[in-house]
Amino acid sequence: MIHKIPRSSGYPSPRITIAGCGVLGKGIATGLLASPLNLDPSKITLTVRREQHAHCLREEFPGLAITLDNGDPALWQGGVTGDEEGHFLFIVTKPQHVQLVCADVYPHIRASPTPPVVITLCPGITIAQLQEWLPTGTPIVRSMPNTPVMVCQGATGLFPSPLVTPCQLDTLTRMFEAISPSVVTLAHEDQLNVVAAISGSAPAYFYRLMDSMVATGMSLGLPESLARDLITQSCIESGAFAREIPSVSLAQLRNDVCVPGGSTEKAMNVLDAHGWHRGVKEAITASLTANRSMGQKVKGGS
Ligand SMILES: NC(=O)c1ccc[n+]([C@@H]2O[C@H](COP(=O)([O-])OP(=O)(O)OC[C@H]3O[C@@H](n4cnc5c(N)ncnc54)[C@H](OP(=O)(O)O)[C@@H]3O)[C@@H](O)[C@H]2O)c1
Repeated sequence: MIHKIPRSSGYPSPRITIAGCGVLGKGIATGLLASPLNLDPSKITLTVRREQHAHCLREEFPGLAITLDNGDPALWQGGVTGDEEGHFLFIVTKPQHVQLVCADVYPHIRASPTPPVVITLCPGITIAQLQEWLPTGTPIVRSMPNTPVMVCQGATGLFPSPLVTPCQLDTLTRMFEAISPSVVTLAHEDQLNVVAAISGSAPAYFYRLMDSMVATGMSLGLPESLARDLITQSCIESGAFAREIPSVSLAQLRNDVCVPGGSTEKAMNVLDAHGWHRGVKEAITASLTANRSMGQKVKGGS
């Protein structure tokens, strides 16, 4: 059942469905609504499984349609009557639920005069699998953003199938750019799994480092709020500075902070002695292996 909310006057914009509106789906919805794209909220639908979750979403997103049914006719009415700006269907469930969502939407895509562009945000699920689960001719894009999309500061990788037209890819890229200043289109599909292991997970690495630095600052006598403020600002500005001068290597930027024989150099030496680089590399490799195997598990029917 669709929970209908009065339409607000919006600019012409594509129909957007976010199937699986958990942490990341909500981040995308929040970011898109806050973005300068001026999307028409009456053309955005969020789907989830549990009524209790739908209830929370209705309170959080009072301008959007929320449904428990991926085949809800109201969700598909734009596709059936024809939708000039197109329909973009984001599948943002855990990988093991993607096939179920595809089964739900299959008959509706088949009945649409113009199939929607289906975008997945799930590591491991391949274009070949999605082509099996969706009607022939469905344009598919695999994508991998990260949670900063919630504040329009994400980083996103895209890999389109050959059926995605340049116009569709352009519309989708602009949508992602509105919530993600960095959007890259990848040359090879498996690079998407690497992107998932690097930037998809990156916020967790940064928060972990920040947490360790704040905790150590506190153990050395700084109040928590002060330590957190200093570390958060340092993190933001280190990234902003690196982005401003891409011609300078990250190693050089790090060395610039390390006066020879000084305290920061001593700190870096301790991290190196603890296998800092090896630890990060092994962590990313473990994440990549897990990302690839998610698709394999689904293939095996688990
Ligand atoms: N979180 C991140 O930082 C991040 C970053 C990059 C990529 N990803 C990827 O994004 C995907 C989602 O991650 P997440 O962290 O957002 O997961 P999540 O919080 O568990 O959200 C998944 C949502 O999917 C809904 N769902 C499950 N089956 C459904 C169905 N058949 N129809 C409609 N909705 C359904 C669930 O609804 P109910 O709550 O009602 O059960 C849940 O809210 C994953 O594949 C993940 O790997 C996540």
